[in-house]
Amino acid sequence: MIAHPPLRSYGRIKSRSLKPNQTRLLSELAPQIALPVGRLEPATLFPKAKALVLEIGFGSGEHLIARAKAEPDRGFIGVEPFLNGLASCLRGVEDAGLNNVRLHQGDAREVLARLPDACLEAVYILFPDPWPKARHWKRRLIQPEVLAAIARALVPGGEMRFATDWAHYGAWTLELLLREPKLEWLAQSAKDWREPWPGHSPTRYQLKGLGDCLPIWLRAAKR
Ligand SMILES: C[S@@+](CC[C@H](N)C(=O)[O-])C[C@H]1O[C@@H](n2cnc3c(N)ncnc32)[C@H](O)[C@@H]1O
Repeated sequence: MIAHPPLRSYGRIKSRSLKPNQTRLLSELAPQIALPVGRLEPATLFPKAKALVLEIGFGSGEHLIARAKAEPDRGFIGVEPFLNGLASCLRGVEDAGLNNVRLHQGDAREVLARLPDACLEAVYILFPDPWPKARHWKRRLIQPEVLAAIARALVPGGEMRFATDWAHYGAWTLELLLREPKLEWLAQSAKDWREPWPGHSPTRYQLKGLGDCLPIWLRAAKR
């Protein structure tokens, strides 16, 4: 049987033209901190890191850069198909002099498949493309097979942290994660899905508030 690639879960991969500094960052810094091809070995990616964190769809990278600054002993992998976003994030990496970030322009589902079992301490998916029309739900990043791939790659006790300001996407994600046997929703009270987790740094899309509800914050741990 022929395996088809997953449906595209993202919109444009390039928009406005790049500024000269962005072009420089893409040609000089991006190759230095890109992910290698083939199987990904955490010890090779970040020889000194105590733990590995993945952010899927980092946008312009505000959250990724803030986390990487706050947690210099962790290695951060950021995956984003949007070239202008990658260029913005590279600037953040350079400005902060970070050496604990690796960035990949592409589809996080492909990166997840290259990671070994039980290697990630956390996976962040913040304000993913909502695909609000019913005929586009199949394009949503959160699907049963993606949650299974995330669960496989998390260490026991490691967390998937998800946020959206689209009510239907929040309910969709909660329903699917409750069905994933390797994940356990961590909420104890309404506060846990109404307020971000401690230490959260706001993202650009969070601040834009383009959705149809207040943000919904979901944390699930690998059993
Ligand atoms: C609505 S934006 C949010 C960006 C950022 N997280 C924020 O909150 O500002 C969603 C991002 O997810 C990215 N994305 C969508 N599908 C993806 C995939 N399969 N792998 C990695 N990133 C993806 C898109 O390119 C887009 O930049």
